[in-house]
Amino acid sequence: MTGATPSPNIWDSPEIYEIENRAVDPDRVIEAALAELVLESGQGLLGADSSWGRVLDVGCGNGFHLPRLAEVAEHVTGVEPRASLAAAAMHRTRHLNNVTIRQGLAQELPVPSASVDVAHARLAYFFGPGCEPGLEELARVVRGGGLAVVLDHDASRSELGRWFADGLLVDGVPRDGPAHERFWALQGFSRRQLDVRWQFENSADLAAVLRIEFPLETVQRALAEIGDRLELEAAVNLWFRRY
Ligand SMILES: C[S@@+](CC[C@H](N)C(=O)[O-])C[C@H]1O[C@@H](n2cnc3c(N)ncnc32)[C@H](O)[C@@H]1O
Repeated sequence: MTGATPSPNIWDSPEIYEIENRAVDPDRVIEAALAELVLESGQGLLGADSSWGRVLDVGCGNGFHLPRLAEVAEHVTGVEPRASLAAAAMHRTRHLNNVTIRQGLAQELPVPSASVDVAHARLAYFFGPGCEPGLEELARVVRGGGLAVVLDHDASRSELGRWFADGLLVDGVPRDGPAHERFWALQGFSRRQLDVRWQFENSADLAAVLRIEFPLETVQRALAEIGDRLELEAAVNLWFRRY
């Protein structure tokens, strides 16, 4: 779909990206922080059954995070521009009656205005300068009192952050920390910084995931540093804004 940000990691290697998603954050630090942000937003945000209400997952890929979101939401809409991934997300969630998948872009969200209680985008499209059209769309679709949360890698901290910052990242994490922070602040977003682990079952999986995320030189240096460990230190930013 024209207008999509190239995402070679999941576009070219969806099976390995699945391994990556399974390895990231076994302690569910991110999920707990998201739940805390929703709670802090107050009762006005919660649906009648104390759920998160109508949740939008922008750039949902093949829908890895949708089943968990569907457990806490009244309804979840996953938006994904890549047809094969949107189809995979549909297949993954086919038994969940509160999930809808729409093919579409962050810049032209295929949902009505003020129809979303919680918008969530994880490592998708919202990578700093350049994502203003998508931010305008978030402001259109999230209702007054609603919440938007954008998750990206924190390239300023942790060993994975160092490798992301060193190499030319394939899906566009910016290198310049202070400029990145200024951008989000100007857009009205605040930040939670989280430390998370990536835990792999074996070293072949770990190496395969590094290969879809980093240039070869960075992979070689990272593997030398990692040795026989199966656990990596990572850091993420949760940028959030209430409307
Ligand atoms: C790195 S993947 C992350 C997928 C998913 N959020 C996850 O965590 O498993 C980035 C996703 O963003 C999608 N994407 C790229 N450009 C986009 C755009 N303009 N609007 C919405 N999604 C986009 C890609 O197709 C890809 O599925």
